[in-house]
Amino acid sequence: MTDSHNDWWKKAVFYQIYPRSFYDTMGNGIGDLQGIIDKLDYLNDGTPNSLMVDAIWLCPFYVSPDMDFGYDIADYCKIDSCYGNLIDFDRLLAEAHRRKIRVIIDLVLNHTSDQHKWFIESRSSRDNPKRDWYVWRDGRGSRNRPPNNWKNNFFGSAWAWDEKTGQYYLHSFLKEQPDLNWFNPDVRKAMFKAVRFWLDRGVDGFRLDVAHCYCQDELFRDNPSIFHRIRRVSSNRFWDRPFVVNLFQMLELPELQDKIYSRHHPETHNVLKEFRQVLDQYPQKTSVGEVNSEDSAIVAAYYGSDNDELHMNFYFALAQCRWKAGAFRRAVEKWEQSLPKSAWPAYTFSNHDIMRAISHYGRKGQEVQRARLLAMLLLTLRGTPFIYYGEEIGMKEAKLKRSEIKDPVGLKWYPLYQGRDGCRTPMQWTAGRNAGFTEAEPWLPVGPEVDQRNVATQDQDPASLLNFYRLMLNLRRSNSALQLGTYASVVEGVPADCYFFKRELDGKCFLVALNFSNGRRETDFRRLANNAVLILSTNPARQTGSSIDKMTLDPHESCILDISE
Ligand code: NOJ
Repeated sequence: MTDSHNDWWKKAVFYQIYPRSFYDTMGNGIGDLQGIIDKLDYLNDGTPNSLMVDAIWLCPFYVSPDMDFGYDIADYCKIDSCYGNLIDFDRLLAEAHRRKIRVIIDLVLNHTSDQHKWFIESRSSRDNPKRDWYVWRDGRGSRNRPPNNWKNNFFGSAWAWDEKTGQYYLHSFLKEQPDLNWFNPDVRKAMFKAVRFWLDRGVDGFRLDVAHCYCQDELFRDNPSIFHRIRRVSSNRFWDRPFVVNLFQMLELPELQDKIYSRHHPETHNVLKEFRQVLDQYPQKTSVGEVNSEDSAIVAAYYGSDNDELHMNFYFALAQCRWKAGAFRRAVEKWEQSLPKSAWPAYTFSNHDIMRAISHYGRKGQEVQRARLLAMLLLTLRGTPFIYYGEEIGMKEAKLKRSEIKDPVGLKWYPLYQGRDGCRTPMQWTAGRNAGFTEAEPWLPVGPEVDQRNVATQDQDPASLLNFYRLMLNLRRSNSALQLGTYASVVEGVPADCYFFKRELDGKCFLVALNFSNGRRETDFRRLANNAVLILSTNPARQTGSSIDKMTLDPHESCILDISE
């Protein structure tokens, strides 16, 4: 249990690396562990010329058939040869630690690959000792339909038929990703052994993949449709239901079930408590959960009743807001209010599953301003920020041709939805060939506008987004009020479509003022504080360092003011 300002992960800024797309040193078009080592100085060389991030989160690099690009693991204790080997990993860890960069790794506990030896054994016969390590059920009725109506999170039923043993197995994602049975104590033992394997090697913690999915209803009851409330008031006849309801049901879209019986099961919290006990046997470790729910109270429950589950959890509402000051403010307030006392938030606007923030939130002609505003917001909120690789240079979502798509979700839904490859394209290091990512053919094409959106070019430009990130990171690092201070929204005296909040600690107080509107916004800081000193603006032309009474914020401009008494 931790409740202290000394926890390193509360002050830290994390940088998420998708190893496959970071930097290729083997010449196979795929990023690798040596590539990450080569770029550690970019992340933190001990000077503000680098990003000076405190920690990295590595997406999976384990042995995998790559049906879901690493999230289908065939061996939890080995590195896939396309990334390197354990010696490379140990070197990466040592080199990162030497630069004071901690390393957390992805932990996929919900499911394995169907090529994992546990599943191969489990499916070999009904009486195999590992049969119960996965979730097997008989079919329903004379037509042997799937055991219930559960949908997986990508497309179609969550059940796959196994011809040989005549039963269905559960898969909350692809059929090549069978769900483990977390009610089985042997599964817990085996998985926690893998957790210890990495802790013993020296990793600093884990990001827990789909931490809300581990256990399911033991009666396997059908999930209601998300339209069950509508249906209750209308009759159940096709013609009486709204067209969209019928359409969505016909398409069997995955999210249209209210997954009350297949997610957020109480036993999942017990699994996480056990996981936390393992983690707490090692000093200074951390964890962050991927918990998908719009309901902030449900996500908050994953901190445990007494901070005895995960150290942090992502609340993704901020990645899906409308571009409105009020929408962001309300999302932050909702999260702040839902969190148990002393629970610590984590924030991100982008990751390997969602559209890049600059493409989601940007509008033509305003992309960079909005990206700067988002950077300032992310790095001043109360909570640990996670920067997805490439955000700091404004990498945009790539539009891919069907023939370029690798993500199975994109292959299924294209052209309705191109899947997740657009946010997983190679890191853009230079304006040169393949953006300096590889000498070979990259596994995914390079994203758009690489001539401007690359590290080398932006490094040379003091007014670039990259250099703005560096300034922001340095400012945060040198001010504990921005790292650990209290959060309070400011409502009075705030111009329309602006979001102002304060961060305060030990007599130091910062005001963060964000203008989400397309218009200029006059602000009278005398109404908010006795003295306001402009510290940093997203507009590089602003004079900083002196007191100001009034200021007109440009469209999408945001700034930080020191308003300490
Ligand atoms: C969430 C991961 O972030 C995503 O990439 C993956 O496909 C699913 N979990 C399944 O592991």
